[in-house]
Amino acid sequence: MSVTYELVKKCSKTGARAGRLHTPHGTFDTPIFMPVGTQATVKAMSPDELKDMGAGIILSNTYHLYLRPGHELVAEAGGLHKFMNWDRGILTDSGGFQVFSLGALRKITEEGVTFRSHIDGSKHFLSPEKATKVQMALGSDIIMAFDECVPFPAEHDYARKSTERTTRWAERCRQTHTRADQALFGIVQGGMYKDLRTMSANDLVSLDFPGYAVGGLSVGEPKTLMYEMLEHTVPLLPERKPRYLMGVGTPDCLVEGVMHGIDMFDCVFPTRVARNGTVMTNWGRLVVKNAEYARDFRPLDDKCSCYACRNFSRAYIRHLFKTDEIFGLRLTTIHNLHFLLNFMSKMRTAIIEERFLDFRQEFLAQYNR
Ligand code: GUN
Ligand code: ZN
Repeated sequence: MSVTYELVKKCSKTGARAGRLHTPHGTFDTPIFMPVGTQATVKAMSPDELKDMGAGIILSNTYHLYLRPGHELVAEAGGLHKFMNWDRGILTDSGGFQVFSLGALRKITEEGVTFRSHIDGSKHFLSPEKATKVQMALGSDIIMAFDECVPFPAEHDYARKSTERTTRWAERCRQTHTRADQALFGIVQGGMYKDLRTMSANDLVSLDFPGYAVGGLSVGEPKTLMYEMLEHTVPLLPERKPRYLMGVGTPDCLVEGVMHGIDMFDCVFPTRVARNGTVMTNWGRLVVKNAEYARDFRPLDDKCSCYACRNFSRAYIRHLFKTDEIFGLRLTTIHNLHFLLNFMSKMRTAIIEERFLDFRQEFLAQYNR
């Protein structure tokens, strides 16, 4: 098996677990956060900088790379790892989610999805077979099944039909997938309906994927509803396989996801808000552009040991944002990624030392203060 999960420690009071993910490009501790590199680059970061902050696996997008520069070109370069000079793990999302975000620009049938490019309006078709072949050409370590992310809100009848189709699509992905050095993960859908989540999880588990994602969450529903869906869904998944919560990456959701037994996360949030001048700290978000930091010569977060916090002040970084200097957004991106990666590693240690619940309580009290 190309990607395997090793369960290291289970929390005795919650569903949290510490593990290790073995891939053809290295072994990574879980729970893990995957920085997002949509266009084969984690915006503003070099691969060396990512490695220095301990990133083990990054996420990239089939939809974007298929449109530009094209998967054939990436294959010609020797695959995505070589093309972007990243020798650790890569997970690619299937394109399902991105295509569905196009709204009016797309049409779904049993066969697949016809859509227009957000770049030049040209017409394309993605299907389970095509999305799988594109991801095989890219050569990522983990590839995702082509799915429909059920929108929120959705009627039960729509959610059921969509989820059943996603399962048929997952089977077609599995039939198409032939690369032994790659793992294909299934994606549980079902909207906000527990009966559909059960159906989706059971059907996908019987297809025996090497790992499972929980999709269709963090799509605009209240956080309490997302937690309820997680609490219901995760226990339906096999204990000895990795579980990935798609599109989640704020610290409070990460801690709840881990508590419910999730091992892997990705989100554009930390890198996107960084470029807007927002950083995460143990005390919540800090908008470094704000006037109150003009003469604040302390680091972004005095508990952080990242390159930005070791060397620069809030006042200086604010100045860089005010003057539109690109170094500013590099520093906030470095900080946010370091902060989240470090946060994951602190959770892992807490799980191993049997103090995860205390860690969660302390963190949430401070973060929501
Ligand atoms: N990213 C966030 N949510 C989803 C989802 O439901 N499906 C896919 N493919 N990607 C996602
Ligand atoms: Zn920092």
